[in-house]
Amino acid sequence: MVHKGNIKRAEKSDILGILEILNYEITHSTALYEYEPRSLAQQLDWFMDKQENNFPVIVVVKEGKVLGFGSFGAFRPRPAYRFTVEHSVYVHHEFHGQGIGKRLLKQLIALAKEDGYHSMIAVIDSLNAGSIQFHTTFGFVEIGQLREVGYKFDRWLDLTLMQLRIE
Ligand SMILES: CC(C)(COP(=O)(O)OP(=O)(O)OC[C@H]1O[C@@H](n2cnc3c(N)ncnc32)[C@H](O)[C@@H]1OP(=O)(O)O)[C@@H](O)C(=O)NCCC(=O)NCCS
Repeated sequence: MVHKGNIKRAEKSDILGILEILNYEITHSTALYEYEPRSLAQQLDWFMDKQENNFPVIVVVKEGKVLGFGSFGAFRPRPAYRFTVEHSVYVHHEFHGQGIGKRLLKQLIALAKEDGYHSMIAVIDSLNAGSIQFHTTFGFVEIGQLREVGYKFDRWLDLTLMQLRIE
């Protein structure tokens, strides 16, 4: 396989690259239920929050460019959810379909297992067939759909919930 960058823990200097990936998706797709691009300060706060709560942020970087990132965090804040995480994986739109997402999700699952989590939840816009297929290849199963819970680009959006129970 062609070497497509290094996978590593994100550092502060990677956050601008992460922000660019997210802001592209916010403005061009329904992958995120957000309307406005985020600021660098907001994304740095997100990163600090992950670090303070011992949640990972990982990146694939090639020649200083962030090609993709992955992370997870609390699924819901109440204490009895403590063994369940919700994750995200985003790959720069010019680098989709090259195995970068696969490397990131594989690593996130390994980290979740290492940290003793029991379930991973993917919350995916139902139009995002690529992401649903992507998660299926890792053994995530569709649990259900929430109808018309989002509204973006002048239309209602459905959410698909997928779950992986970690052995
Ligand atoms: C979804 C996403 C993370 C996948 O990452 P990627 O690097 O493009 O995917 P990979 O090349 O690692 O693909 C891994 C597998 O996922 C599946 N897959 C990925 N993208 C797919 C697509 N668009 N359609 C169908 N299957 C897809 C394939 O089964 C693929 O396996 P294969 O290479 O053996 O065919 C990426 O396309 C992305 O960032 N999309 C936009 C943001 C997003 O939707 N993030 C997820 C939010 S829930």
